[in-house]
Amino acid sequence: MDSELKLTIKDMVVVGKGILAADESVKTATKRLASINTESTEETRRQYRNIMLSAPQVEKYLCGVILFEETLHQKSDNGMLFPKLLAKKGIVPGIKVDGGLADLDNGEQYTKGLEGLGNRLEEYKKSGCRFAKWRAVYSISEKTPSPAIIQRNAEDLAKYARICQEHGIVPIVEPEVLIDGTHSIIKCQEVTEKVLKAVFDALNKENVAIDLTILKPSMVISGKQSDIRAGVQEVAGRTIKTLKKTIPSELPSINFLSGGQSPEEATAHLNAMHTLNEHLPWYVSFSYARALQEPALNAWKGKNENIPAAQKAFLKRAKLNSLATMGKYSEDMEKNE
Ligand code: 13P
Repeated sequence: MDSELKLTIKDMVVVGKGILAADESVKTATKRLASINTESTEETRRQYRNIMLSAPQVEKYLCGVILFEETLHQKSDNGMLFPKLLAKKGIVPGIKVDGGLADLDNGEQYTKGLEGLGNRLEEYKKSGCRFAKWRAVYSISEKTPSPAIIQRNAEDLAKYARICQEHGIVPIVEPEVLIDGTHSIIKCQEVTEKVLKAVFDALNKENVAIDLTILKPSMVISGKQSDIRAGVQEVAGRTIKTLKKTIPSELPSINFLSGGQSPEEATAHLNAMHTLNEHLPWYVSFSYARALQEPALNAWKGKNENIPAAQKAFLKRAKLNSLATMGKYSEDMEKNE
């Protein structure tokens, strides 16, 4: 099992490459398509996924793609199952395995989906998936996140990760501190530190192999509705400081989510982390959904004739984020690309 996991890690930790999260649930995909006045059907969702997964030379920038279950059984315009298409390009296919969020009495949310996970992983494996993703969320307000949700999410993320590794699937552990709110960056830093500490304590307790796990955290950032929002250098500096305090160096890769940052912000922040002149013990890259896809979605507008423009917009973001993982991005590239 270990050699299988090791090979997947090797294929997913590649300088200059990152992960595309294309794992929106039907509900979320429907929301995205509604924003371009396009009806959400199995076919329009397939067309949308096809734009990105079939984009020429996308393998130069991506080492993995997180898929949603529906997409596993869909085909590209050329008639190839999407997981097969990705594998052929040397991109590792993965799968979102959590069952989404459920409400708790105090207004917080936990993540469903542990039941029957092992059996589902076996099925996903048959479809070619080699890694999985599980997302937990934490909202910042005066009373939240509560110690109880921090503990529960940590334990569930750890159980999920252990089950994945038992089935030869690399777990992506995603604790997302939500950007919504008026909180300061300092508050976000305090919360993120507590959350990550709890997650790694739980992973250790559950005997999860940290060197065969990928972390997908949120950045340490000001609340989206905050009057004073920290600049790029501060976000990068505080994020790396918090990660260094909480994350062991055996972890091979940290792949950030974009979490509602603009595409340009998400790229600039990642780049700045690589220009801090600090040693980073792990590979630091991206696993963005919105920050990679938004420009492509807006260029496509649900129309066939816009597919080349949509692919161009997608490849531009993929390339700029690839450069950011090496600290080689600059803002003027936004105009030139
Ligand atoms: P965003 O990059 O849009 O935050 O999505 C990442 C993700 O996979 C959420 O689970």
